[in-house]
Amino acid sequence: MTRHDAQALDATDPLAAMRERFALPEGVIYLDGNSLGALPRATGKAVADVVDRQWGEDLITSWNKHGWIDAPATVAAKLARLIGAAADEVLVCDSTSINLFKLLAAALAASPGRTVILSERGNFPTDLYIAEGVTRMLPGVEVRAVDRAEIAASLDDQVAVLMLTHVDYRSGERHNMAALSAAARAAGALSLWDLSHSAGALDLSLSASGADLAVGCGYKYLNGGPGAPAFLYVAAQLQDRLQSPLTGWMGHDAPFAFDGDYRPAPGIARFLAGTPPIIAVIALAAGLSSFDGVTMREIEAKAASLTDFFITCVEARCPSVVLVSPRDAKERGSHISFRHPQAYAVMQALIERKVIGDVRMPNLIRFGFAPLYNRHEDAFRAATVLGEILDGNLWNDPRYRQQSKVI
Ligand SMILES: Cc1ncc(COP(=O)(O)O)c(C=O)c1O
Repeated sequence: MTRHDAQALDATDPLAAMRERFALPEGVIYLDGNSLGALPRATGKAVADVVDRQWGEDLITSWNKHGWIDAPATVAAKLARLIGAAADEVLVCDSTSINLFKLLAAALAASPGRTVILSERGNFPTDLYIAEGVTRMLPGVEVRAVDRAEIAASLDDQVAVLMLTHVDYRSGERHNMAALSAAARAAGALSLWDLSHSAGALDLSLSASGADLAVGCGYKYLNGGPGAPAFLYVAAQLQDRLQSPLTGWMGHDAPFAFDGDYRPAPGIARFLAGTPPIIAVIALAAGLSSFDGVTMREIEAKAASLTDFFITCVEARCPSVVLVSPRDAKERGSHISFRHPQAYAVMQALIERKVIGDVRMPNLIRFGFAPLYNRHEDAFRAATVLGEILDGNLWNDPRYRQQSKVI
C-alpha cells in the first residue's frame, strides 16, 4: 500500500467533503474519535448563541421561547435516525452510567421472579460496576458475567436482562444484536445494549434488531464534546411498562403542576430525572448535525474501508504488532487494536509525532476511525509513523513511560 493508494481511495470517498465540517488542527492525525469526537465547526457558534443570546438576553423565557424544555426529546429525534429508532423511543439525558442504572433497575422491577443481570466478563467496567451497584440495592439480584462464547447458553429463566456492549471497547468485536436480542426474548429476558462504540460509526437498526433497551455516549462518534449528555432508548411497546428508579420531576406527568405525588409521564419522557444541561445538549445537537445529509450505510461502509486499509498498512509495515480486532469488518466496529508489550510507550511516541490514538492497558494500542472526518491518508500516515517508531525502538525513552491520569 502506498500513499497514492490512500489518496485514490479518498478521491472516491462519498463522505470526503464531511471533513470540512470539523475544525481539525493542522498536521494532527486524530484517531481517537471513539473516545472524544473532534470539534464540529458548528459547535462554537451554537454554544455562543445559546449562552449570549438565549441565556444572556432571553433569560428564563428561553425554556419556552427557544424550546429548551423539549431539547432532550428534540435533540434525541435527530439522534434516532442514526441508531435506527423512532423519534419517540430516544432521549438525550444524563450520562451513560446513569442511564444504565435507570434501565437496569427498571428492567428488573418489570421482571418479577427473575433475579439475574446477564453480561459479559470483558464488558466495559462502568457497565459491570453499575450492575453490581444495582444488585447491592436489590437483595437477591445478582450479576452473572460470562465469557463471550457462553452468553447465549447462559440465558435461562432466571435472567431478567441481558446487558451487553455492542462493540467491545478493547478489541472492537461486534455482537450480533439481532440474534442475541432474539435469544434474550425467547428466554423471557429483556435486552439492554450499550452503543457507546457503535452509535455514529455503524448502520444500526434498533427497531429491526429487536433490541428492547439501549444507552450510549454522546461524546464519542456523535461529537457532542467532553462529557456530553448520553442517550437512552426504550422500545415503544415497553415504555409504559417500565418505570425509572430516579423519579425526578422532569419525568413526572406534569412537572409544573408541582403535585405532591409522583406520577410518571407517559412514554419515553418518564426516563428523564432532573433539569437538562442545556448548553451541553445544544453542543450535542451541533455534533449530531454533522451527520446531516449522510446515510448510516455510507458511514458503516467508510468505517469498513478505513479500518480494512489500516490493517493492511500496519501489517505490511509493522511485523511486531499483533492484530486483536476481527479481520472481517462485519464483525467489528470502527476502531482497531493491536497488541504490543510496550503499548503505552509506543502510543506516547505516536502522540508526540502527532498521531493521536490511545491505549488500553496492559498491551493494546487502539486507533478509532471516525467515518465523517478520517481519511485513508490518515490511516497510511499513522501506519508509517508507527513503523518508524517500532523499527527504531523510538518508544524506548523514559519520558514515554510516565503515565498520565487519563490514558
Ligand atoms: C462501552 C462504554 N460504556 C460507557 C462508557 C462511559 O460512560 P460514562 O459516559 O457514564 O462515563 C464508556 C466510555 O468510554 C464506554 O466505552
